[in-house]
Amino acid sequence: MVYDDGEAYDLSTQGPYYELWFEMTEHYLDSFLPKEGLLLDAGGGTGEFSIRAAKLRRELICENLDISVPMLAQAERKFQKNQINNRVSTKHGDIQNLPYPSKHFDYVMCLGDAISFCPDHELAFRELVRVTKPNAHIHLSVNSFWGNYHAMYTEKSREMGVSFDDAKKYMKTRILHMNGQSTGCRSFTMKELSNWADQYKLSIVKKFVAPVFPSNNTWYENPVISKEMRDLHYRYCEEENIMEFGNHLNVIYRKER
Ligand SMILES: C[S@@+](CC[C@H](N)C(=O)[O-])C[C@H]1O[C@@H](n2cnc3c(N)ncnc32)[C@H](O)[C@@H]1O
Repeated sequence: MVYDDGEAYDLSTQGPYYELWFEMTEHYLDSFLPKEGLLLDAGGGTGEFSIRAAKLRRELICENLDISVPMLAQAERKFQKNQINNRVSTKHGDIQNLPYPSKHFDYVMCLGDAISFCPDHELAFRELVRVTKPNAHIHLSVNSFWGNYHAMYTEKSREMGVSFDDAKKYMKTRILHMNGQSTGCRSFTMKELSNWADQYKLSIVKKFVAPVFPSNNTWYENPVISKEMRDLHYRYCEEENIMEFGNHLNVIYRKER
């Protein structure tokens, strides 16, 4: 997938389903963000989560790093519009080779599958851990492997051109395929994300999925149903049994030392 138009990306992430994703993620950011210090939004794209974090914590200084210049240009416009450009800035860079010293940040977030697009996601994760200060948190969100696999069997996926061959390729590579082509987006299981904790001596302080249930415009656009759905998402987003069938798996790690 190519991220070469920030405005188009923002337009594609509008509507009640995306709003719920942003809101649920923000809810957990509010629980774990430090009061002050340095925040890295790695693969932050057009800055949606940097903006939300900066509004939650007025004393945080935030760096929104991304490999795509057009995504960063859109982020820059939004930071100015929100009048937070004095403490939220953009940085061009690669998560797999972060341009920062070790133990530099008080909170590191890498949300909305940014790590999934890195060809060497192991290296990318190692970099996120490297730049995090001891006792600080790393908040990762990635596409759920089983959630995607489940979605590939739906009629909607047929309409989008997902074939059984694509599903087989996905099962083998964990990279989403459509119309015989790789999207370059790697999905993860909770087991893989938990293994990283063991590998890097991190503790897991929170696991949740956002959103929990699939997109269904008819229900999400009905204000009465949508409110009830929202309550259900919050009730079940930390439920292990359903987590893997949701959209974005979120893990918040703490770096012990
Ligand atoms: C789906 S978007 C998510 C953006 C943002 N985190 C959000 O959730 O709104 C994925 C982002 O990852 C960025 N990205 C992909 N590979 C990257 C890399 N190696 N280093 C930095 N950013 C990368 C893309 O340019 C894109 O902006």
